[in-house]
Amino acid sequence: MENLYRENILDHYGNPRNQGTLENPDISCEWDNPLCGDVVRLDIRLTDGRVSEVRFSGQGCVISMASASMFTEEILGKTLEELRALKDEDVFEMLGVTLGPARARCGLLPLRVLQEGLARKGEEVTEPCEGQG
Ligand code: FES
Repeated sequence: MENLYRENILDHYGNPRNQGTLENPDISCEWDNPLCGDVVRLDIRLTDGRVSEVRFSGQGCVISMASASMFTEEILGKTLEELRALKDEDVFEMLGVTLGPARARCGLLPLRVLQEGLARKGEEVTEPCEGQG
């Protein structure tokens, strides 16, 4: 069964969905994995309280890029409340493969970017949403 998931991961890596950036996004954040320096950025547009458009950009390993691509499909249409409720387990379920601790960080990078972007939304933030963790 894991083979199917692996194929799906390779498909997203080779044919990334929703890749790019958005002009004037409502949420935008860029975060990197301190272990390797790989970067993921998410730009999100909200319409009537739901994700109406989302793009990802960055560079990284197969898992982080495939996860980011899948993640954009996963969060499209979700409300802010649903975005805030997303957990690590949801990402592991989405990926469908068992990951060791280092690879888990790769897979979770898009979620971390979203969480950081959400944390800063609505606050008066003068610094760009960038960092690592
Ligand atoms: Fe850098 Fe995977 S090796 S995010």
